[in-house]
Amino acid sequence: MKRELIDTIRPIAWREDRLWLLDQRALPSSETYLDYSDCAAVAAAITDMVVRGAPAIGVTAAYACVLAGRRRHAEDPSNWRSAFEADLDQLAAARPTAVNLRWAVTRMRRVATGDGDPEPALLAEAHAMHDEDLAANHAMGRLGAGLLDGGAVLTHCNAGALATAGFGTALGVIRQGWADGRLDHVYADETRPWLQGARLTAWELAHDGIPATLLCEGAAAALMREGRVKWVIVGADRVAANGDAANKIGTYALSVLARHHGVRLMVVAPTSTIDRDAADGTVIPIEQRAADEVLGCAGRPIAAAGVDAWNPAFDVTPAALIDALVTERGVIMPPTPEGIAALFPQSG
Ligand code: MRU
Repeated sequence: MKRELIDTIRPIAWREDRLWLLDQRALPSSETYLDYSDCAAVAAAITDMVVRGAPAIGVTAAYACVLAGRRRHAEDPSNWRSAFEADLDQLAAARPTAVNLRWAVTRMRRVATGDGDPEPALLAEAHAMHDEDLAANHAMGRLGAGLLDGGAVLTHCNAGALATAGFGTALGVIRQGWADGRLDHVYADETRPWLQGARLTAWELAHDGIPATLLCEGAAAALMREGRVKWVIVGADRVAANGDAANKIGTYALSVLARHHGVRLMVVAPTSTIDRDAADGTVIPIEQRAADEVLGCAGRPIAAAGVDAWNPAFDVTPAALIDALVTERGVIMPPTPEGIAALFPQSG
């Protein structure tokens, strides 16, 4: 059964010479776009999770580089480069795990050559990255959906339109799979502590009319034991050269559960999320966030006073527990160093 393919959510926009970000901290209660004309403010927005999700962070950073180039060139047209480079260094450090941030800043640095006004070339490159990410998501959606064969899937965190230029990685596969009649239901982990599943994934699925059920991630084992899902489909913040994949904390637990229960695990990530300098997952930096996020919920304290909390934002799933790595350049089943290297034929 074929259904309409819906792709209307856009978290990032360049309008009126400024960057606009859909404030993901406020969703689903309010759909508010905040505007930015300063690189440092965009870096703070990335740290504070106004925008989050690896590809969305990359595209946002690209536009932040445009703002840095504009400001520093206007301040000192003959000697703007060192201040511009310092802005980009600060931007690249806004969050450590999503390699798309470093990837985007490196690509933008290469464009700012010469001594003239860098803005036109930077803006053209940022627009190109924005368009490429959307196209990559549609390509991955088609490839990943081709692996589905009916039934329900489970997803974790939000790897949707909100986490990308649009359409999503894991949710791109789910959107395409729903439109093609290759899945009939989505289970979404609520994703403590930031509730990306409850607030963002549930909002996207409801927005597009895809039937969804929310669960606490602690319920995933029971869901699998009852045979209710065939695939776990997730995104990634960084994929190492051997296929190990860092993603939202709890993904590793799902991978172990999936293997135990004979459920397959699909990681959906564009090649901009692959870090060929990281030999394996042990060298991927894992962001540690504030204890308050665990000690409270939605800004309200819930834990007993005096207790501490451990709050790693990501964990690493070993390649051996991943059944399929879906990129815009092809599917690797299972991910191997050779398969990943073959995605980058020009660089050897
Ligand atoms: O802390 P977040 O919300 O930025 O974490 C996001 C994730 O873990 C996503 O799964 C990942 O970035 C892939 S987004 C397409």
